[in-house]
Amino acid sequence: PIPVLLDCDPGHDDAIAILLALGSPHIDLLGITTTFGNCPVEKATYNAQRILALAKRPDVPVAAGAAGPLAGTAHIGDFIHGATGIDGPDLPEPLAPPVSVGAVEFLRTSLLAAPDPVTVVAIGPITNVAVLLRDHPEVGSRIAEIVFMGGSTDRGNTTPAAEFNAYADPDALDIVLTSGLPIRMVGLNLTHQALATPDVVARMQAMDHPVGRACADLMGFFGGTYSDVFDFAAPPVHDPCTIAALIDPGLITWHKSFVAVETDGRWTRGATVVDLHDRLDEPPNALVGITLDVEAYWGLVLGALEQVGSR
Ligand code: BDR
Ligand code: CA
Repeated sequence: PIPVLLDCDPGHDDAIAILLALGSPHIDLLGITTTFGNCPVEKATYNAQRILALAKRPDVPVAAGAAGPLAGTAHIGDFIHGATGIDGPDLPEPLAPPVSVGAVEFLRTSLLAAPDPVTVVAIGPITNVAVLLRDHPEVGSRIAEIVFMGGSTDRGNTTPAAEFNAYADPDALDIVLTSGLPIRMVGLNLTHQALATPDVVARMQAMDHPVGRACADLMGFFGGTYSDVFDFAAPPVHDPCTIAALIDPGLITWHKSFVAVETDGRWTRGATVVDLHDRLDEPPNALVGITLDVEAYWGLVLGALEQVGSR
């Protein structure tokens, strides 16, 4: 299996990403680090622990990370994810406390201790990973690749130009994109194909265990806010696309491209610039997800939920 460190801000779709990682034999989840984003970091940490309790996997270490971005104040996504960050389901209380070190130190020591290079997956504002690379560049050789959910080849969902994770800390994303490490970008242009349709939610609900029912309840709340705020008929389940990309790279088509993030724009701070047609004459620095095999994606996610729930 692929060793993975998962940096997240659960978050409805983050919760599904955690469960997908736990339910796949192709992923070895070494630990979870948390960040502000969909909710304040304290809640994100608590939510990650509650998801691990739901999955009966309190052995997976959780380390709490950034409370805010490198510059400016924390932008919180409670308008989509509710006051708790994962409004909707009844979830069990944590079965284990977070580790005593912070996210950056946990990432550093985990990377250095692992026998093989580790894949870092970031599905929230990417502050923890940026601080790690800025303050401990020696860990770069221990990272197999960074797969992040953020940005878009198109427009934004938080401002007209910027996607939520990129908008929440563009300076951090800039550090990651200019790090020279192998990067895969899973942006809104891809994740808006991963819709939890009524059929998908019904299949979750029909699972005869608390994991399936909790996921159906997560999708129920998430679908409600996506309908209210964006007029979407079904909610896009963004974050698990990163984990699915690791499990089955053929699920997604990729385009090698130069990607940058706007850190200064008056109206466009946090906008990603993806040079799909090589107009800027800059060397490519990322593989950018373009199309998703939607049926195979849900097959993978629902299969993993079934796996986790039957334990
Ligand atoms: C991203 O922002 C959050 O709302 C989701 O968890 C996802 O990581 C989508 O823009
Ligand atoms: Ca997220």
